[in-house]
Amino acid sequence: MPGLTTNEAPFIEQARRGGQLYIHQPYELYTEENHEAWRRLYSRLLPRWERYANEHFLAGIEQLCLDHDRVPRLEDVNRFLRPLTGFQAKPVSGYVPAFLFFDCLRNREFPTTITIRRSDQLDYLPEPDIFHDIAGHVPMHTDRNFAEALVRFGECAHTAANLAAGIRDQQERVQVLTSVFRAMARFFWFTIEFGLMKSKSHGGLKVYGSGLLSSYGEIQHAIESPAVQRCPIQLEWAINQGFEIDHYQPLLFIVDSFDHLFSLVGCLEQWMKQGRLNNVAPGEPSVDEADLKSFLDAVLVA
Ligand SMILES: [Fe+2]
Repeated sequence: MPGLTTNEAPFIEQARRGGQLYIHQPYELYTEENHEAWRRLYSRLLPRWERYANEHFLAGIEQLCLDHDRVPRLEDVNRFLRPLTGFQAKPVSGYVPAFLFFDCLRNREFPTTITIRRSDQLDYLPEPDIFHDIAGHVPMHTDRNFAEALVRFGECAHTAANLAAGIRDQQERVQVLTSVFRAMARFFWFTIEFGLMKSKSHGGLKVYGSGLLSSYGEIQHAIESPAVQRCPIQLEWAINQGFEIDHYQPLLFIVDSFDHLFSLVGCLEQWMKQGRLNNVAPGEPSVDEADLKSFLDAVLVA
């Protein structure tokens, strides 16, 4: 019985075949194995969160009353989340093209995967699952300052589309959007997914990036391993720095606070307007055709 297991869920395959990106969460389809995967992931991570996660995340999991034993219902999560920051988890059938993803953030919606990894493969998963999205991302959305930074980041995608609308030459437009998108993807990666934050306790560093928060192995590695370079964030560095997704990150950036993160997003937008993102260093991530197309389509309505 496949239930809602990553890459094995007929419900998801059917939604994708039908071109439905935004879906509902058919809660009754989760199997006992799915719930068991959640329970094991959650119970393994909890002591590591207490040790390595930033205080806003820990407050967030309390405020959301996340179930430790069963896959959460998004409706329940949203009932607690919405009054705090207006954010809500929005179920999707799979990858959301970049512009649409950023536009959701601007509207305080977080595209959320509803499938969960197999219970015998808890450690590594290249694609997001509900544990990454709900246990890794959504608790951060309870924090007002973090939420504002995320909304502001989403608005940057509109700024990019508006700027690109002023470029007549199609080839130049594609080149600029590719570079701006690469800069935005790197920023997102090094902050929202893999960010570290200064703290008064535990050697002065805590984790706030969701890729780290949802990884049993990497959350500890990020803070403890001598193999990781941990540097105060510099925007010009982060937007020109490539990254690979299939191993532990060797380089992580530190912010002072979520006010600091918010001001960095403002700076990113300023640089975008000044053309300073038009020629960022080539390399990872490669820019997917669907992502680029989502921006080009947005230009047409800008
Ligand atoms: Fe993520």
